[in-house]
Amino acid sequence: MPKPMNVLVTGGAGYIGSHTCKLLAGAGYIPVAFDNLSFGHEWAVKWGPFVSGDLSDVDFVRNTLREHEIGAVIHFAANAYVGESMENPRKYFRNNAANSLNLLEAMLDAEVKTLVFSSTCATYGIPETIPIPDDHPQRPANPYGETKLFVERAIHWYAGAYGLRWAAPRYFNASGADPDGEIGEDHDPETHLIPIIIEAALGKRPHIEIFGTDYGTPDGTAVRDYVHVTDLGDAHLGALNYLLEGGENLAFNLGTGQGHSVREVIGSVERVSGREVPRREGPRRPGDPPSLVADARRAEAVLGWHPRFPDLDVIVETAWRWHESQEKPE
Ligand code: UFG
Repeated sequence: MPKPMNVLVTGGAGYIGSHTCKLLAGAGYIPVAFDNLSFGHEWAVKWGPFVSGDLSDVDFVRNTLREHEIGAVIHFAANAYVGESMENPRKYFRNNAANSLNLLEAMLDAEVKTLVFSSTCATYGIPETIPIPDDHPQRPANPYGETKLFVERAIHWYAGAYGLRWAAPRYFNASGADPDGEIGEDHDPETHLIPIIIEAALGKRPHIEIFGTDYGTPDGTAVRDYVHVTDLGDAHLGALNYLLEGGENLAFNLGTGQGHSVREVIGSVERVSGREVPRREGPRRPGDPPSLVADARRAEAVLGWHPRFPDLDVIVETAWRWHESQEKPE
């Protein structure tokens, strides 16, 4: 039996990182979660060692790669609030762009050449066509998307010069929770639609505010492609296997191809929870595109990836069960 490969997962204590660690362990890898716990949680690290550290410290990252005999890296660690990135771009260029360069530096020094980099549909900006194809032009409309695109471009050039091998999944709206209920989404502050609606249904918020009802969409509210976090994890695992088997460097979309409006998502939470969700209608949130839906053809064709949980009610149900389980008894 060959020794299992150790995979460094930056942001491994975070939402998508921790779900991916579970899948990596299930596939026989040892996930080494590297996290500064600014958003992650130590309780979410259950499937391998935890390394508390920050990507700003390139010596520490290099030592970690060597000490843990890392064979490949999956890089999630990043700030990911679009609105915040507009107000505080320096934070995003430092934490997402500069720190990713540190990671790449340490990887090259330690001769770790395989990278799955978590990218985003925010690199496309305002789409010209819906669904958005994998080869859509990338013109980010905010610093968050810009920093993710910067790293995509860096790894492209590093591949040619240093033999780095990479895959960059660009995901749409990560959502849901581990179907076994072991981990779930827990952000502070929470800005994402599904957990906010669930909190309103649970009475932890007075209401959900709908950001904009005058979009040119069927019901006037913004449309997004909600993709289950376990499906995202499956795709990262698939991309890692693909690279280790000698596949070509690859960027690709991850979404279900189904768009859902804010009102539809509220309806889904009401169906799943059996509760009424108090709501208010408010103005648009600056920077929000009307509609973002993926054409994930490349992930299907190259990785054989198909979402296991494409149905919105199923996604919401896994999230609902997780949030309910987190309720403290009175
Ligand atoms: N929304 C509301 N009310 C809320 C919160 C959200 O109406 O209280 C709406 C938003 O305006 C948007 C939709 O619900 O139309 C989804 O909003 P989220 O904040 O959940 O997600 P975003 O689509 O804004 O952001 C996601 C990821 C980002 C990524 C971005 C790409 O969270 O990391 O997609 O545009 F960059």
